Amino acid sequence: DDVSAETLAIVNELKSLEGPLLPILHRLQEEFGFVPEASLPLIARELNLSRAEVHGVVTFYHEFRNHPAGKHTLRICRAEACQSMGGRELAEHACKVLDLDWHETTPDGKITLEPVYCLGLCSVAPSAQLDGELHGRLDRDELSALIKEARA
Ligand code: FES
Repeated sequence: DDVSAETLAIVNELKSLEGPLLPILHRLQEEFGFVPEASLPLIARELNLSRAEVHGVVTFYHEFRNHPAGKHTLRICRAEACQSMGGRELAEHACKVLDLDWHETTPDGKITLEPVYCLGLCSVAPSAQLDGELHGRLDRDELSALIKEARA
């Protein structure tokens, strides 16, 4: 099938690299938007690793997802400047309103919640990004409004 063929093509292209596993996983995620579960046994076989090893790496690095991301991605800045300006409360608020933990997607597939470490908006902290749009000086109400917009 497509996933197997694409996985093997990527593995073959990258397996001569030193430490090929991460580049392979990144490429898969670029290709599919996530790392398909079905790719893992193939990667393990081709790289002579156990499935547990491959699985361990995928789950260790949070940037890899095993299902497609939501339609919208909400990134809340969790770096220093934002944290000190109410970013922590904002992050808690987002998790609560969406009923999600970081890297998770709402069951309707609408919104994925991701942490981000500085959006370059420290002077207007706390900040967040909804898809391509940046937002500074956010408070809970404004964040709720953004979430509502993304859910619509
Ligand atoms: Fe949040 Fe820089 S620390 S934008």
